[in-house]
Amino acid sequence: MNTNTKRKPIVIANWKLNGGLELICTSVASFIGKHFEADIAICPPYIYMRDMLTFLQHSEISIGSQNVSKFKSGAYTGETSAQMLKEAGCKICLIGHSERRSMFKENNLSCQIKIGNALNHGLMPILCVGENKEEHDAKITKDMIFRQVTECLEGVELDGRKICIAYEPIWAIGTGASATPEIAQDVHSFIRQELIKLYGEETANSIRLLYGGSVTKDNAKDLLAKEDVDGLLVGGASLDPGHFLAICQHASDSSAS
Ligand code: PGA
Repeated sequence: MNTNTKRKPIVIANWKLNGGLELICTSVASFIGKHFEADIAICPPYIYMRDMLTFLQHSEISIGSQNVSKFKSGAYTGETSAQMLKEAGCKICLIGHSERRSMFKENNLSCQIKIGNALNHGLMPILCVGENKEEHDAKITKDMIFRQVTECLEGVELDGRKICIAYEPIWAIGTGASATPEIAQDVHSFIRQELIKLYGEETANSIRLLYGGSVTKDNAKDLLAKEDVDGLLVGGASLDPGHFLAICQHASDSSAS
């Protein structure tokens, strides 16, 4: 049972390199007119952001980005800056997703710079952390999480600005093998303790911690019932609007319980 009444649940869809007009239309249609006691955001590919913002302008759903450049402007082909995202109407951005770390060579330092850029332009960063299968099996999850959290947040002043952290064990992403609610809670409470050391109790207790990795409409409720699981980052299941809606409803319900 989530006894913390101060943290509003948050559910974020990460569409990755998926989607198209059909998904946009069915997703938008399923959310229009709905109210949730939770923050909901969809991170589509960049190219769809503006259309989705227009379609969703009378809904409660926010649009987020899956990445942000560490550069502010200049000769950086293919990049999109925090300022551009903000101007486009984006509210949040994922930073350091494991696919970006493994396939695009992102590291804790680039995440740290991106977090600063996002915060400075009024975007809420969602910092993604998580251990791989070998690290999980070697029982060094917390060492890895400690390193990621402390290095990514080194020198990052929040000054009342919001950030979220998403714990996404790499072995659970897209595999169908979600972490158990107990594992998620254990790692989230560890992250919370580290945040207390970095930012003090009040700020740390206000930071929402999301779980991601094979979240489905069937496991969402139990994950959200854990005290330090304040939200969910959803990949595959967010591509089915009916399933994603059900996950959002569980988050909304968890806020009332
Ligand atoms: P998944 O992806 O829900 O498909 O496991 C989660 C993510 O990569 O954010």
